[in-house]
Amino acid sequence: MNYPVLEAILSRSSIRAYKDTPLTEEQLTALKKAALASPTAMNRQEQRFLFVTNKEAIERINAAVLEGVIASGNEAFAERIRSRGGRILYSPPLFVGIFAAEGNYVGVDAGIAVENLALAAKEMGLDTVILGMPAAAFAGESGKQLAASLGVPEGYDFRIGISIGYKDTEKEPHEWDESHIIEVK
Ligand SMILES: Cc1cc2nc3c(=O)[nH]c(=O)nc-3n(C[C@H](O)[C@H](O)[C@H](O)COP(=O)(O)O)c2cc1C
Repeated sequence: MNYPVLEAILSRSSIRAYKDTPLTEEQLTALKKAALASPTAMNRQEQRFLFVTNKEAIERINAAVLEGVIASGNEAFAERIRSRGGRILYSPPLFVGIFAAEGNYVGVDAGIAVENLALAAKEMGLDTVILGMPAAAFAGESGKQLAASLGVPEGYDFRIGISIGYKDTEKEPHEWDESHIIEVK
């Protein structure tokens, strides 16, 4: 049996440290296709995919998460981030942010697209971590300004992100509970 997609699904795990190696144009093009080929409810294709390879911009988003969390008044959460060295995006060679305006199924659509990216990356020998926390960077007035400065059109909100690159650490895929499958035969 040779099921490359299933193999990617079963071997994927969240990687939180990356080598400095940049991705090739070929890899970036393939990942853009994986994002754009994602199915969307009613084929609306109303997502915008922010591909960030600029290191400074990646670090700007990372810093803005902590600022956003502090601004939200969640000091305990801010302290947790600080205690982990302020690492939120984990300095990858590529960060992709998925943005969409309000609408039916926007979260589901974004989830499908982010998993498409994760699996395509895995098949290409890359690793990933899906990231919800960057939402704090794009919240409020300063978050809107940050999104606009990166070229995201007005009205498109951050839904989910993903860091992608060559792994610089190991992590086993998570375990699961077979009883979570409910079968009707
Ligand atoms: C919607 C979503 C949001 C997540 N947000 C974060 C995040 O902000 N930071 C992080 O380090 N991991 C994040 N993760 C990764 C999960 O912690 C991880 O997928 C989970 O622990 C299972 O581990 P595995 O991916 O290695 O199987 C997120 C995952 C999902 C699906």
